[in-house]
Amino acid sequence: MIQTLSTPIQFDYPQQDSAGLTCTAQAWAKVPSPLTAREKSQVLEKIKVLLREKDAVLVAHYYVDADIQDLALETGGYVADSLEMARFGKNHQAKNLIVAGVRFMGETAKILSPEKRVFMPDLEATCSLDLGCNATDFATFRAMHPDRVVVVYANTSAAVKAQADWMVTSSCALAIVHQLKVEGKKILWAPDRHLGRYIQDQTGADMLLWNGACIVHDEFKAVELELLKAKYPNAKVLVHPESPQAVVDLADVVGSTSAMIKAVVEGTASEYIVATDNGILHRMRQLAPHKTLIEAPTAGNSATCKSCAHCPWMAMNGLAGILDCLENHSGEVFVDEPIRLQALGCIDRMLDFTKNHPDLLAKAQHGFIKNIGAA
Ligand code: 13P
Ligand code: SF4
Repeated sequence: MIQTLSTPIQFDYPQQDSAGLTCTAQAWAKVPSPLTAREKSQVLEKIKVLLREKDAVLVAHYYVDADIQDLALETGGYVADSLEMARFGKNHQAKNLIVAGVRFMGETAKILSPEKRVFMPDLEATCSLDLGCNATDFATFRAMHPDRVVVVYANTSAAVKAQADWMVTSSCALAIVHQLKVEGKKILWAPDRHLGRYIQDQTGADMLLWNGACIVHDEFKAVELELLKAKYPNAKVLVHPESPQAVVDLADVVGSTSAMIKAVVEGTASEYIVATDNGILHRMRQLAPHKTLIEAPTAGNSATCKSCAHCPWMAMNGLAGILDCLENHSGEVFVDEPIRLQALGCIDRMLDFTKNHPDLLAKAQHGFIKNIGAA
């Protein structure tokens, strides 16, 4: 088996260069200011009325503002990880979807439901993984390796997905790559190098990795995490696989946002150290109010934290933006039809696989892929 970690071509990885600092700072500058209590209750009431009147449903990611998560649940919408957001949006009857999350989530919803109108509170809410994987560069990379099955993470543009055989999210990546390995396939993976390396380790698959990273998870620090573990020796450590290897190595559970929530809700421990965007703590506290949740460290003597455990693009989602979608049809997501049709195949393949292999998925979600056994 060849294991190659390469930087295939020139591209700007947003965290490592000044462009990365600029784009992160630009995102923070666009984060809406908090509303007063009065403004908030007025906006919430208007949104609730308009969601009903306009046959719209709100789908939110676990990292967005707590008020938006609560609003989604209160109004018959959904709060979920990126896989379940895609499935919910596709299956829901509403004519209009409001997606509170980042750009790729809105695009995925539109690709799956072209007949629906899809809106986002801020169309500029992107993701460092998407920014670091430009479709033209990716086409060059892919052309250099025609013998490989192309597997891309959900956190990519529609134009990159249009070039892929499979799309995966962190909920199903292990199970799908495991299956491809069993079938003897070699894989070209993009864009998250940490998630790619983790999957490579767990499955033993032959994977060529793009060199992207998430600016939020990349900043968790292993040395400081070890110190925190020493302070809370009974705490279980939950880590999202977009984190660096040294951090993943300290985890009791490695998994997607939904797998991390499940671990807190179902776990017998009373304390959990959580290494992912701190927006997730809201839902964890709601579902497991008696558990103690501790944020994993992004700071320390060596820290240069730019996200500090919160994604600036997720933070760009605000209640006023949602109201604007409903009142003024702002933030509508469009995907060119030829790109949409090409991107649809890799997403549908993932949705079919996850629907047809629930057992494999459940085992893999808990990091037990090594125990699944080769077919
Ligand atoms: P999940 O698929 O685990 O929700 O992750 C999406 C994401 O952007 C993590 O940073
Ligand atoms: Fe992208 Fe990271 Fe933000 Fe998730 S947390 S949307 S991977 S930048």
